[in-house]
Amino acid sequence: MPDKRSMYDMMQPNLDISEMFADRQFQRNALHTRYLNEQLVRVLKTIGYDVGFQRGQGPYLYDRNDDRYLDLLSGFGVKTALKSVLDSDLPNLVQLDLSTLAGILAERLIAHVPYLDKVFFANSGTECVEAAIKFARGSTGRTGIVYCDHAYHGLSYGSLSLTGDKNFRDGFGPLLPDCISIPFNDLAALEKALMSRQIAAFIVEPIQGKGVNMPDDGYLAGAAALCKRYGTIFVADEIQTGMGRTGRFLAVEHWNVEPDMVLLSKSLSGGHVPVGAVLTRKAIFDKIFDRMDRAVVHGSTFSKNDLGMAAGIATLEVLKQEKVIENAAARGAELLETLSAMVPRYELLKNVRGKGLMIGVEFGPPKSLTLKASWTMLEAASKGLFCQLITIPLFKDHKILSQVSGHASHTIKLLPSLTITQEDCSWITGSFDQVIEASHRVPGAIWSLGKTLVDNAARKSA
Ligand SMILES: Cc1ncc(COP(=O)(O)O)c(C=O)c1O
Repeated sequence: MPDKRSMYDMMQPNLDISEMFADRQFQRNALHTRYLNEQLVRVLKTIGYDVGFQRGQGPYLYDRNDDRYLDLLSGFGVKTALKSVLDSDLPNLVQLDLSTLAGILAERLIAHVPYLDKVFFANSGTECVEAAIKFARGSTGRTGIVYCDHAYHGLSYGSLSLTGDKNFRDGFGPLLPDCISIPFNDLAALEKALMSRQIAAFIVEPIQGKGVNMPDDGYLAGAAALCKRYGTIFVADEIQTGMGRTGRFLAVEHWNVEPDMVLLSKSLSGGHVPVGAVLTRKAIFDKIFDRMDRAVVHGSTFSKNDLGMAAGIATLEVLKQEKVIENAAARGAELLETLSAMVPRYELLKNVRGKGLMIGVEFGPPKSLTLKASWTMLEAASKGLFCQLITIPLFKDHKILSQVSGHASHTIKLLPSLTITQEDCSWITGSFDQVIEASHRVPGAIWSLGKTLVDNAARKSA
């Protein structure tokens, strides 16, 4: 007799995960130091982020003292759908069966991107990029892949070959051959690369995550036209920008562009379960899966798992029912306006840019002498360190979790939950205002923190 209990039932009698979490949470540093990444433990401790988050609720996180934080890096909940999968006896991951939930999710994704026809599911962003590279090469018979400077497409070998950042690449070569980097927003460079007619795909983030770099108005449409002219597949990596993040379902919609392939992951599952999707044209897909003996020529064991599929379906439903994309557009516009209005008031604040709830707040060298001296000392110790003087007090004093957008970057990236409220937006803008204002006072608490960070950097390099 097959065991009729669901996975959820089986977990109930002897294994209580929340009890285990409560019992052992105080050992998390020790566990990670011993069994996982010790350097990450040290980083979080150094910047004071080891507050021991206990629970999350919507856009909020609660630490061990039950203090509430606003998470500007996160997604939103689809817990009910996940619980219903665990409670059911669905025939999950039967390899020689056709998953119903995968069919439904694919149908619904394509309804959002009707000019594409087929969906390939994966477990993560980087796996979507790997699939895109294989599909592009396999369907065109060409080997070249063109990507942009400052792109981030992931860290497995194919995607790392399209991520130029030295910090990620050093020590791991050789990478994939025939990957060519060109400047973002440079159509002439793109055409020069494509003219060889050896390029299978051009892959681009519509808004670059690292630095929150915006495309010029005609750039994406121009790139799509060039790809068409030279027989190159135009791949939009919407792993960060997609699913409503920028106030549209896909960021490319802002510029009326229809890519040949669209990559989605991250909030496709509301941030709960690893999942990714490659949406593509039928002509490309059919060249890869072209015969019965090639029906599984690319794939992965867990890629159409029921939890991922259910989370995806639920996320699309939440987007629609709760008007999440409209909220992202409205709250994003308000945030952008209020933060931009601070630029003329603060000499260290250079630019605020973005679309919807993907916003970059960029800092740069000041003009006044006292500030200039402090800035120079900080930058000499470690390029990009200034942003930590903003993110650390935002976290410690204002309970706002934000991040610097990449190594040596002067831009702080805001990716708040798409369900954020007006009140949360005031929390963000009020906190930024206070911290930026404090950063213009020399001497002051912020620059004392700067001195500590410089000393730390010096000790590290000694
Ligand atoms: C634009 C983009 N592409 C690809 C990836 C890689 O996704 P993952 O971390 O799921 O492998 C990321 C992750 O941050 C991303 O932002």
